[in-house]
Amino acid sequence: MIRVENLTKYYGDVCAIKEVDFTVHDGEILGFLGPNGAGKTTTLRIITTYLAPTSGAVYIDDLDIAEHSAELRARIGYLPELNPLYSEMPAYDLLVFAASARAITGRRFKEALGGVMETCGVREVLHRPVGELSKGYRQRVGLAMAMIHDPEILIMDEPSAGLDPNQIAEIRALIKELGKEKTVIISSHILQEVQAMADRMVILNKGQVVADGTTTELMAGFQGKAQLTLEVKNATEDSVQGLAVRFPEIRVQDQKLQDGVSRLELEYPTGQDLREQIFGYAVESSWVVLEMSRRQARLEDLFRSLTVEEGGALA
Ligand SMILES: Nc1ncnc2c1ncn2[C@@H]1O[C@H](COP(=O)(O)OP(=O)(O)OP(=O)(O)O)[C@@H](O)[C@H]1O
Ligand SMILES: [Mg+2]
Repeated sequence: MIRVENLTKYYGDVCAIKEVDFTVHDGEILGFLGPNGAGKTTTLRIITTYLAPTSGAVYIDDLDIAEHSAELRARIGYLPELNPLYSEMPAYDLLVFAASARAITGRRFKEALGGVMETCGVREVLHRPVGELSKGYRQRVGLAMAMIHDPEILIMDEPSAGLDPNQIAEIRALIKELGKEKTVIISSHILQEVQAMADRMVILNKGQVVADGTTTELMAGFQGKAQLTLEVKNATEDSVQGLAVRFPEIRVQDQKLQDGVSRLELEYPTGQDLREQIFGYAVESSWVVLEMSRRQARLEDLFRSLTVEEGGALA
């Protein structure tokens, strides 16, 4: 288990993260989410012992990483942001390099290589310079380097950044597979990317944890808005206004009239289902209902509400 406790990091006067707390359980895939500059990379670099916190601590199975860094590094694989590879080197040489940095040589290297070639699917590109590879394959090579010592913990900083949709699907499948055996942290600033893979999510905004839980847990505490689109004929201005008077929890967000058809965008708190009442009102007002469709509040809405600044710009 990884326990992150009260982690704070200042770069000079800049506070990158403040009192960050969360845990990752064994065998769990944790999605570490936040907009640009939220402090994801800073936190991950501290967990992987590449950066010292200003205050706070990280424990892996109750061992303080500050006191046991060499021992714990051997148990962690880290795929850094932007996966900095030496582009002129063949994948094979990079793997030799990554292994020798961990004193894995000779027969042990051959075994380790066999393992990562299989899991990361890099066999066919082993002897090509990584600079010539597609981004998806480069990411696989980076992952193979991070895993050459068969770590039980895998930490990946934005592993699908810059990949095309097919490559994203492949890397997701690979990460999901790895997550069956390992404890995994993946960071991203895109919710959908981690939601598909993660068991649980920690959301960071401006250096602080603003949410922590499974999709279900996060949504349970979220008072979002349901949106209802209604297309009707015969709706007069008065009868539309009358709807909002009859049901004060409904807000008419938008109203358009085209070819005798009114398109109304209604919004009301989730947890209430007002479709029946709205339909009843439509009948009473002699509207002819052509379409009614509802969009429930989604995790994206929660993520936006937690990470979007007042005024709409992303932090
Ligand atoms: N070496 C540094 N010196 C000064 N400030 C830094 C340094 N590294 C990061 N920061 C600042 O710390 C904050 C957190 O940065 P960090 O890179 O951890 O965020 P992030 O969530 O990984 O962002 P991104 O999604 O853009 O990768 C930002 O305000 C950033 O400008
Ligand atoms: Mg980052």
